Amino acid sequence: MTRNEFIRLCGITVAGGLGASLLNGCASAYYFARFEIQERKLSIPVSEFFVTQGKKIKPRKFVLLRIPQFNYPICVFRISATDYTAVLMECTHRSCELQNQGYYLVCPCHGSEFTCRGQVKNPPAEDDLKTFSVKSSEQFIHVEI
Ligand code: FES
Repeated sequence: MTRNEFIRLCGITVAGGLGASLLNGCASAYYFARFEIQERKLSIPVSEFFVTQGKKIKPRKFVLLRIPQFNYPICVFRISATDYTAVLMECTHRSCELQNQGYYLVCPCHGSEFTCRGQVKNPPAEDDLKTFSVKSSEQFIHVEI
C-alpha cells in the first residue's frame, strides 16, 4: 500500500465513522413516524408520539413525516394530548430545510425562527410556514395535505 492509498483509506474510514455517528445522533433527535396515506389524508398512530425509555414512557415533542409530494419533511408537533400542529420544514426566506429546537424551528442558513404553529418569530424570513390542518382521534392523528 502506498502512502497516498493509506491516507485516502484513513480519510474514508474517518468520514464513514463521522457520518455514522452523526446519523446516530440525528436518529435520536429526529424521529420519522410511521403513517398511512389515503388520498390527501395522513394518519399517524398516536403511539408514534411516545417513546419507551427503560420503564418509562415519554411523549415526543414532535415527529417528522417524509411525503413524496414535498421536498421537505412535515413536522407534526404534539403540544398536548389534544393539540397537534403540522408545518412544512421549508424556510420561507430562501427555502433551506429547517431544524427542530424543541417547539421551535430554526433555519441553519440565515437564522430565521418559527414557532411550532408556523409563525415567524425572528427574521430575515417574513412569511409564516406552510401549515396543515390536523385532527386528532383516540388512536390517530390525521393531517390533511
Ligand atoms: S433561508 Fe432560512 S433564513 Fe434564509
